Amino acid sequence: MKHVIAPSILSADFANLQRDTEMINASEADWFHVDVMDGVFVPNISYGFPVLEAVKRHATKPLDVHLMIVNPDQYIEQFAKAGADIITVHYEACVHLHRTVQAIKATGCKAGVALNPHTPISVLTDILVDLDMVLIMSVNPGFGGQRFIQNTYKKVSALRALAMTIHPDLIIEVDGGVGLQNIGLLAEAGANAFVAGSAVFAAESPSKMISDLKSVSTGSVN
Ligand code: DX5
Ligand code: ZN
Repeated sequence: MKHVIAPSILSADFANLQRDTEMINASEADWFHVDVMDGVFVPNISYGFPVLEAVKRHATKPLDVHLMIVNPDQYIEQFAKAGADIITVHYEACVHLHRTVQAIKATGCKAGVALNPHTPISVLTDILVDLDMVLIMSVNPGFGGQRFIQNTYKKVSALRALAMTIHPDLIIEVDGGVGLQNIGLLAEAGANAFVAGSAVFAAESPSKMISDLKSVSTGSVN
């Protein structure tokens, strides 16, 4: 699979959401990353269905919805109806993860599971073949603009090694503190989808930054 760049709209200008959505449409980005936070699973509240639906009305690329919420099962159908194409739930928020993953797939969405920085990849061994994607958090979830945790490289390469034996098509997405300084090494370690919030939206030219992230991740800088 080609490398995926997924700008996080958490760092967008919400008063100019249509403008920022159209910037992503016109850029080399592959997905929209949509961070939903409930103030319980993480110490922050972001946005919910109305914002997701507003982005969906203008987006021409898939919506990669990252649920940082407790009891995600309760809302899966509603997120699918609101326009999600990929739904990722946190391992730490799901008591019956297998059931939750099947519920996501039943909506027709792709299913992802996210791991917090302290959660070992081994907890996913018995469910990996059922997943389309694993999202490795490279910061503690809740906020944009945090510092990248270095242990992520090791974690990504261990997950890629495990996936090679049982599920080579697994998408490994890295989320948090991703930028030009680490995306190349993350790709080398085996990641193939990259979320970038502040790196994109704080750049002088967000669309040029998206294109640079893509080039560096595929190793074709020029
Ligand atoms: C953090 C979110 C991230 C966030 C990334 O909890 O899951 O998707 O938007 O932002 P940056 O790229 O600024 O770390
Ligand atoms: Zn995210």
